Amino acid sequence: MQIIRRLEALRQALDLYAHAGEGVALVPTMGALHAGHMALVDAARRRAPRTVVSIFVNPKQFGPGEDLARYPRREAADAQMLADHGVDILWAPEVDEMYPAGFATTVSVSGVSEVLDGAHRPGHFDGVATVVARLFGQVRPVAAFFGEKDFQQLAVVRRMVADLSLPVEIVGVPTQREDDGLALSSRNIYLDEAERARAVALPRALGVAERALSRGDDPASAVAGALAALTRAGFDPDYVALVDAETLRDPVRGRPARLLAAARLGTTRLIDNIAVDFD
Ligand code: PAF
Repeated sequence: MQIIRRLEALRQALDLYAHAGEGVALVPTMGALHAGHMALVDAARRRAPRTVVSIFVNPKQFGPGEDLARYPRREAADAQMLADHGVDILWAPEVDEMYPAGFATTVSVSGVSEVLDGAHRPGHFDGVATVVARLFGQVRPVAAFFGEKDFQQLAVVRRMVADLSLPVEIVGVPTQREDDGLALSSRNIYLDEAERARAVALPRALGVAERALSRGDDPASAVAGALAALTRAGFDPDYVALVDAETLRDPVRGRPARLLAAARLGTTRLIDNIAVDFD
């Protein structure tokens, strides 16, 4: 596996693939890789002859007071995992390579970016859309892989790609979970032992609400039940919301729906979501 930090070297490597007619699948990440990322990598490897994984802790998607400085960085271990999984290129630019002097573009996706996490983390999805658009320009992938755990991010990227007619297939990969149901996340390492034990209340609350909704219960009471369960478990919830899976606005019966939640446990903010049968 090549580890590349400069755009010029990335272009040279990708040109060789292009001349050989080999398409590239991209997995954008911020590192601190776990089995969830590896599921993306394995899916990417099945999709195209070449796989590029980016590791870039993107300052543009962190707000003031968020965890940019303490976000886990462990490139050597990440690189070993990626090499073991048959990745061709680890694209690991520094900030000044991703955003050189004079960089002046922001990609802003209205609508899907404005609700839920977008309302609680102003500017977050502009940062995500901007770096993902830049990564697509740099890597020119035929397909890019994103985890469904970041469901709103996936919706934002899909909207951006559709609106800008970008020639890349966006593939969402189901959330990978610990044995007790907690969604894998690089941020789980912030949890101490007691918090980790309580964190399982998040997927459980979503599961209980999902079953209530598929029995036909009233959405407002299912959501209220999930919020109450989270609060009882010691979470400070930002939101629990049932939304249309594409627009992230009010759910429409007969269309795919999703139940999403974000909640803080101590200093750690966790998110999760689940598909809902809303007929
Ligand atoms: O999901 C992430 O790790 C990041 O938001 C992404 C897509 C790599 C953009 O920085």
